[in-house]
Amino acid sequence: MKTALRAADRSGVLEAARIIRNGGLAAFPTETVYGLGADAANETAVGKIYTVKGRPPDNPLILHICDVSQFYGCTEQTPDYCGALISAVWPGPLTVVALKKNSVPAWGTAGLPTIAIRMPSNETARLLIEYAQTPIYAPSANVSGRPSPTSARHVLQDLDGKIDIILDGGPCACGLESTVIDVSGDLPRVLRPGFITADMIYAKIGFYPETEHPLGKPKSPGMKYAHYAPKAELTVINGSPERAAALINERAGVEEKRVGILATDQTIDMYDKSKYFVLNAGDRSNAELIGANLFAALRAFDDKGVDIIYAEGIADAGVGSAVMDRLKKAAGGRVIEV
Ligand code: TXA
Ligand code: MG
Repeated sequence: MKTALRAADRSGVLEAARIIRNGGLAAFPTETVYGLGADAANETAVGKIYTVKGRPPDNPLILHICDVSQFYGCTEQTPDYCGALISAVWPGPLTVVALKKNSVPAWGTAGLPTIAIRMPSNETARLLIEYAQTPIYAPSANVSGRPSPTSARHVLQDLDGKIDIILDGGPCACGLESTVIDVSGDLPRVLRPGFITADMIYAKIGFYPETEHPLGKPKSPGMKYAHYAPKAELTVINGSPERAAALINERAGVEEKRVGILATDQTIDMYDKSKYFVLNAGDRSNAELIGANLFAALRAFDDKGVDIIYAEGIADAGVGSAVMDRLKKAAGGRVIEV
């Protein structure tokens, strides 16, 4: 199958909508990361998502909708605060996990009693769902385990020849996957941190959601798998800019393999670019910016063929918590505090 790369203009979106209606797979931009979409009502098409991504069958998908009535059509017993939350945040980078109606088929939900739903704000994504006239199941459009794609080129790298079309809408604004919040229990619980932070949720509903204990059994099936992993072995170094750069230089200096360094504005001048492949993630105090750059940087290290990556950590608060969640997963737990 040849993959068409199309601009995300009206005719491109119409073509992708036609492909989805006919049971094909279309990758499209959202404000978070690129998604790989199929008609949620078509079991065979949804099955193809799992095949091309190499996704474990017990990992459920997010249903993408363009109208709130589609949320209430699939869910039941949603608490009052849920309505307040989605009316404040949707369309936007928030996924809500709620009890599903029995009428919702099991093929996108991995047999769970719940379903994950989000209404994206990206114009192309919104139009695609509208033109396809069906909700769309869409995981991130990467091969399972790889960093999520934040550009059409990243999708091509992973899925060229395996899917029907990619709509190129340029780089994604957030660059990190949506915040996933579970509203099916007594208290709301953040299953995956993202651009919508616990403080923002507090501001909308008047109380704080619980967060997943880092050592607990994850409630979100996808969180237990290795994730966002570049091919090189990544280590996160947490500490002040000066201390982090000093330790990275010390370790890189005795390393015989090819070293990549994920630096920040605060440290970029502290590394020898003639010896190491150094990328600047941006200003440490701007977690949104670092988040937007992160996945592209991880892929760039792979393109360059480095063997070892040292990445500076940033403050674990606000959107920085989402950045650190992804970095720690990419590092498979290799985190050093200095
Ligand atoms: O920003 C995003 O959310 C992107 C764009 C394309 O919308 N999508 C995305 O999908 O990141 P995916 O499949 O890569 O991640 C979905 C996460 C997984 O960790 C999955 O386990 C979890 O959501 N999830 C889906 N349904 C769930 C459910 N019923 N209960 C708990 N977790 C669920
Ligand atoms: Mg994913």
